[in-house]
Amino acid sequence: MTEEIVKSALAKVMYPGFTKDIVTFGFVNNIEITGTDVKFNVEITSSAPEVAQQIVDESIAAVKAAGATSVAPIIKAPQMPRESSSQGKNLTPQVKNFLMVSSGKGGVGKSTTSVNVAIALAAQGLKVGLLDADIYGPNIPRMMGVADVKPEINGNKVIPIKAYGIEMMSMGSLMEEGQSLLWRGAMIMKAIEQFLRDILWSELDILVIDMPPGTGDAQLSLAQSIPVTVGLTVTTPQSVSLDDSRRSLNMFQKLNIPIAGIVENMSGFIAPDTGVEYDIFGKGTSGPMAKEFDTKIIAEIPIEPSIRTGGDEGKPITFVNPSSESAKRYIAAAASIWAQVEEINANGGVDNASVQPNTPPGVSACSTAAAPAKAAPAASEGESCGTGCGCH
Ligand SMILES: Nc1ncnc2c1ncn2[C@@H]1O[C@H](COP(=O)(O)OP(=O)(O)OP(=O)(O)O)[C@@H](O)[C@H]1O
Ligand SMILES: [Mg+2]
Repeated sequence: MTEEIVKSALAKVMYPGFTKDIVTFGFVNNIEITGTDVKFNVEITSSAPEVAQQIVDESIAAVKAAGATSVAPIIKAPQMPRESSSQGKNLTPQVKNFLMVSSGKGGVGKSTTSVNVAIALAAQGLKVGLLDADIYGPNIPRMMGVADVKPEINGNKVIPIKAYGIEMMSMGSLMEEGQSLLWRGAMIMKAIEQFLRDILWSELDILVIDMPPGTGDAQLSLAQSIPVTVGLTVTTPQSVSLDDSRRSLNMFQKLNIPIAGIVENMSGFIAPDTGVEYDIFGKGTSGPMAKEFDTKIIAEIPIEPSIRTGGDEGKPITFVNPSSESAKRYIAAAASIWAQVEEINANGGVDNASVQPNTPPGVSACSTAAAPAKAAPAASEGESCGTGCGCH
């Protein structure tokens, strides 16, 4: 039995709700091997007992399957959140609420949903920001019609670009092209922390955050850096997409993020010539999944050519044609999201204390001195912050 064998066995244990394993997340340390007896620590970011139990069960099975006779994982989890929010972290305190838009896989319409929901929230009279956190494929600037606009820099802070009544900033567009492609773990976490600190948002009622597809470092890091008020999952009606969406909903649960609902996108087709709606991939197929997660479908958005052209040309349908059927559905979805945000806040709000890394209160394991946003982290691959933060 060697450390390598133990590590490769534990690399088969997924962190519950995520598509990455506990070794890749950097949660495993202090592996001690005596003959075929194995002991190790797993420093997790969730205080939920079922998360710890699942990791214990699966890691014992995995290491035994690799030849160990006795396996003793020691789980180090943060304390359950207290009444006060002093252990939580908010790098963007001028923003009152955060909406995380997520999906299990790419191309289902997250960015389109983020843009149109953000515009619909602003149409309700709210002060809205839109953060493109998709560092791998930033599409929001084009969809908002500001792909060629360079943001103003004030000192080492970036001033968001204004378009269609909202403030917008794209993390990816602040970086050199292709810079993020090989980023992993610590680098993503540092980049997200740095961007959150360095963007000079106004006092916003809500910041809509368009995430990269999947469930990984960016999602975990964001949830640790700001108290996400609600999560929204975007899916398409085919069952393969639904399987992936389940992961996204599961992730919200694991991160203690209340679920605002599901947007079923590409749900039916509205013919541009007749306005007649056809069912193509199946409509309403996400209903049972919504029930399973105690949430609801807050919009069924049809395939509509003007949604795509609106995205390509930077003219979002909810702004340029608010009386269209799809725009009305985005507007209804935004109203539902806001009603839920208000209800959550009336019941005491959210706190991300339960997902903090295992470091002393108020200290972020992933923090480094903030540098100007333009100089996005130049850390080398595989860099470790050395604190068991789970970000490498
Ligand atoms: N309801 C719709 N009707 C027509 N076209 C749509 C619709 N929703 C999205 N599209 C188009 O589908 C493509 C993918 O959408 P979008 O970029 O929003 O997906 P995404 O989930 O953000 O993708 P990625 O994972 O790559 O970030 C875009 O060209 C968009 O204009
Ligand atoms: Mg996108």
